[in-house]
Amino acid sequence: MATLTLNNVTKRFGKKVVAVNDFSLEVPDREFLVLLGPSGCGKTTTMRMVAGLEEVTDGTIFIDGVDVTDLPPRRRDVSMVFQNYAVWPHMTVYENIAYALKLKRMDKKTIDKTVKEAAEMTKIAELVDRYPSQLSGGQQQRVAVARAIAVKPKLFLMDEPLSNLDAKLRVATRTELKTIHDQTEATTVFVTHDQSEAMSLADRIVIMKDGEIVQIGSPDDVYHRSVNLFVADFIGTPPTNFMDVELKVENGDRHLINPHFDFKLTPENAAKLQNYGRKKKLVLGVRPESILLVGEEDSILSAQCLVSEPQGSHQIVAIELGDKLVKIVAPAHPRIESGKTVHLTFDQEAIAFFDSDTGLRI
Ligand SMILES: Nc1ncnc2c1ncn2[C@@H]1O[C@H](COP(=O)(O)OP(=O)(O)OP(=O)(O)O)[C@@H](O)[C@H]1O
Ligand SMILES: [Mg+2]
Repeated sequence: MATLTLNNVTKRFGKKVVAVNDFSLEVPDREFLVLLGPSGCGKTTTMRMVAGLEEVTDGTIFIDGVDVTDLPPRRRDVSMVFQNYAVWPHMTVYENIAYALKLKRMDKKTIDKTVKEAAEMTKIAELVDRYPSQLSGGQQQRVAVARAIAVKPKLFLMDEPLSNLDAKLRVATRTELKTIHDQTEATTVFVTHDQSEAMSLADRIVIMKDGEIVQIGSPDDVYHRSVNLFVADFIGTPPTNFMDVELKVENGDRHLINPHFDFKLTPENAAKLQNYGRKKKLVLGVRPESILLVGEEDSILSAQCLVSEPQGSHQIVAIELGDKLVKIVAPAHPRIESGKTVHLTFDQEAIAFFDSDTGLRI
């Protein structure tokens, strides 16, 4: 059990590459924290610095209040599971899990007990005598996780541990990882570039871009209160629909207009935009589930359905607004066929406004 603190951590490779820039973060004991961001944003580098596999250019790292910035990996009490979960092919599953425990000079009986517990927790108890080549990818993945939890680290680091698994196994395994976390209560930092994985696992998500933190928050925060266009676009599938709009003030009422619609803002939304004058250009962000199918008389917008993708529990309806594709999550029934006209409104409680110059949420 441990806390993790990064203070203004920067990592440069050579003169040009700044992989991580002024990264500060506090991870409380037992938290499941997810680092999320596009490829190359510095997730792995951050993890490697915490593990001690990469030197820090600037800043400090504390584990449980101890400055570990200059400590070698073995003195940090951290376990890491990597993207390519290298399990040792020449050792059985049992030996793989026991290896680090032997290095710790644990006695045989305790090793046996610990290996069995870890194998139990990761559901590979029946496989401990096999070699990795006799296991599926998902099972090998569990061996890597079992090996990491067996050492009972203060801090558990996982770098895209599910990326080699097929979609279904990935979802099943992530549920198990969550259960394992609930059992071990080890502070965990988990890296992914899969936003749905992040949403389902995290207590808090750190969204990174170009080596920097863009937002830290609960899954609910980053989804419903995205700080800027990047986050609103990155989180959620289908992503937020963005529409260029202009502010119109008419008889004291505030409207948002564009060539396709003109609607009056609720008093709450109008208040959010009170510092903006008429003709101000904004970006309206509407989640696909916040565009509602209504009768023509209540609609603010009508359009033809371009395609509709049934998803079982719902359907995703695409319409075109100018050159933009707008996606709507609609109830599964009735099925909306291509070419059918749909009448739509926005759930004003769930829409967001972004400054088109800065990209920041208003
Ligand atoms: N050893 C290195 N030498 C030079 N540049 C590096 C080195 N390692 C990483 N980088 C660069 O640092 C940046 C961050 O890399 P990092 O591996 O941390 O990204 P990531 O977020 O883990 O990406 P991915 O999702 O693809 O794994 C990238 O631009 C990468 O090219
Ligand atoms: Mg990486």
